[in-house]
Amino acid sequence: MTQSCPLPVDSRLHVAIIMDGNGRWAVERSLPRAAGHRAGAAAVRRTVEAAPGLGIDTLTLFAFSADNWRRPRAEVDALMTLLEEFLGREAGRCARSGVRLSIIGRRDRLPRTVLAAIAGAEAATAGGERLDLRLAVDYSGREALVAAAAALVGSDAAGLEGLGAAVAAVTRAWPPRDVDLLIRTGGEQRLSDFLLWECAYAELVFTPVRWPDFGTADLEAALACFHRRERRFGGLAGAAAS
Ligand code: FPP
Repeated sequence: MTQSCPLPVDSRLHVAIIMDGNGRWAVERSLPRAAGHRAGAAAVRRTVEAAPGLGIDTLTLFAFSADNWRRPRAEVDALMTLLEEFLGREAGRCARSGVRLSIIGRRDRLPRTVLAAIAGAEAATAGGERLDLRLAVDYSGREALVAAAAALVGSDAAGLEGLGAAVAAVTRAWPPRDVDLLIRTGGEQRLSDFLLWECAYAELVFTPVRWPDFGTADLEAALACFHRRERRFGGLAGAAAS
């Protein structure tokens, strides 16, 4: 990805990121996988700090998928501990910088200490208006769709807007926001059950950079790539549209 034009920073974009490559980053350095996740948490902070200045008003980060419970117990525990520490440590900083932090996804399988950290961080940052930071934890896009459809049974609000609102409500991803740009680090090119509904018209950018190495320049490059794309939403471009 090369960046060749100044970024329009006055846009209001929803950027979602699949933060992949922590494990490989660690293995490449002969470190335990948990060290990759810890370095990944530092990359989260860098990205959150850079986002508002780059025209991003909503940032959704895939921190733990519903399928990640299949990982070895030690790695799951390390990720939960990291999340709890992150929430405790970063809530104050987020509140001071106008970041509203919330968790999207299921909560019924999370450890009680993590739930307490979530409650604290969400309460402390509820007034934030510069950036809506959503961490997806125990999240599955398919499960969200199933739960939303179930919630709408017998309702007369089952159109596109109704289902979009239901998906947002069941995951607490409120208000509903379509994703403008989805970035996946680590070199794989797939969605992995992330924000399936919200990504219907997202532009996709894949980068080989491992998440712990992802920095502001990589975010800027992805945004420059996004701004060069022509978004037609199924219509026609330019003069041909009229
Ligand atoms: C994927 O890398 C990443 C995860 C499963 C967890 C993401 C977690 C973080 C970025 C750190 C913690 C986040 C917060 C918000 C505190 P992988 O382990 O699948 O990497 P690999 O594909 O190289 O094995």
